[in-house]
Amino acid sequence: MVVDIDDIQEVAVIGSGQMGRGIGAVAALAGYDVAINDIDESQLEEAREQIQWSYEKAAENDPDVTEADTEAAFDRISFTTDQEEAVATADFVTEAAVEQQSVKEDIFETLDEVAPEEAILSTNTSGLNITRLAEVTDRPDQVVGTHWFNPPMLMDLVEVIMTEYAPTEVGDTAEALIDSFGKTPIRCKMDIPSFIVNRLMRPYGEGAAWMVYRGEHSMREVDSAMKYKEGFPMGPFELADYTGGIQIRVEGEGDHLEDDRPMAYDTEVCPILHQLYEKGRYGRKAGAGYYDYSDQDEPDIPVDAGQGFDTLLVWAPIVNEAAKMVENDVASVEDIDTGARLGGNWPMGPLEKADEVGLETVLAKLTEVASRHEDTNKLAETLPCDLLVEKAKNGETFY
Ligand SMILES: NC(=O)c1ccc[n+]([C@@H]2O[C@H](COP(=O)([O-])OP(=O)(O)OC[C@H]3O[C@@H](n4cnc5c(N)ncnc54)[C@H](O)[C@@H]3O)[C@@H](O)[C@H]2O)c1
Repeated sequence: MVVDIDDIQEVAVIGSGQMGRGIGAVAALAGYDVAINDIDESQLEEAREQIQWSYEKAAENDPDVTEADTEAAFDRISFTTDQEEAVATADFVTEAAVEQQSVKEDIFETLDEVAPEEAILSTNTSGLNITRLAEVTDRPDQVVGTHWFNPPMLMDLVEVIMTEYAPTEVGDTAEALIDSFGKTPIRCKMDIPSFIVNRLMRPYGEGAAWMVYRGEHSMREVDSAMKYKEGFPMGPFELADYTGGIQIRVEGEGDHLEDDRPMAYDTEVCPILHQLYEKGRYGRKAGAGYYDYSDQDEPDIPVDAGQGFDTLLVWAPIVNEAAKMVENDVASVEDIDTGARLGGNWPMGPLEKADEVGLETVLAKLTEVASRHEDTNKLAETLPCDLLVEKAKNGETFY
């Protein structure tokens, strides 16, 4: 088994789409030999061109990267439709093919047969079941998640996700590799749905959706407050439109029923998402979502529209979700906050925020949010976790 970072010289990437090509580009620039594989020749061709383009940008804009560096890096990358050839001598393989459990399971079965037996196999899945991917191989102890953020060349964060099979040392090696790429790893110690960062994103979007659905606040009020008062890059509605969150959430509604992982979701989708989905309002790419984009690229969110909005109504359920992860030993306080800052570009992490305003205040706000949810099954998400209650009672902080 590859247990030491010094054993890693060759990295293989399966899938050359948006993420795979970026991951390959980062790894080659860090000095590794990289093989990029795809079933689609035209995708490989696009990947080749886009890597060249991103290398030109890096040489132009990054003082630490020279043209000679990027030329040498590009020479270290090979592109192939032959998966066996791509992984034949790889020490670390990252799968970044389409987000479908069955496709990924097939790929992992094949990788297990054709990759060197000491190689670590990782997946860039955004939230699928990594434990099951480990189980289709004869090396479940050498399978981890390495969840990158888009675009990999520019985003600093990578989540390293462990299953019950992989020993800590395999996670340490994956983290050392990510570190050698010049990226910041955080550890998700348990395979839970959505991992760390996307887990925090969910109450951000949904808590806000319920407020608008119940007619308590307008979306411009919430978006403006979170963006201009709190300093988030986008408010929750603008973000959902940007990422296609309405479609993802509605189409993934029943997924949790088959998910036997710890901390599986059990809350319903806010009806406002269904209403938009049924009208084809999936988000920005569809021309409309929460906002209409038919004659504007950016939603009109007045800077002062959120002056009177209490942003803690949005923060409190996020803090609760973060505290649940600490309580269940999914991640450390520091890693959760680093994830929010680097993965979401949030102004601060939820646990830093909790300490800043005081846990008693967070708890009181959470109770207020929960009471508004009495007629929905969202209570589960707003029910304060024991750790938060305990810490508030003892006057403790997270740091
Ligand atoms: N796009 C994002 O913002 C983002 C962020 C984090 C993680 N992810 C995850 O990364 C993965 C890839 O996402 P993407 O946005 O790059 O997708 P994409 O659709 O751009 O690329 C997927 C690529 O995989 C290839 N592919 C499909 N089946 C294959 C197979 N059997 N063998 C080899 N290649 C195969 C496709 O031809 C395509 O080129 C997904 O699991 C996604 O959830 C995406």
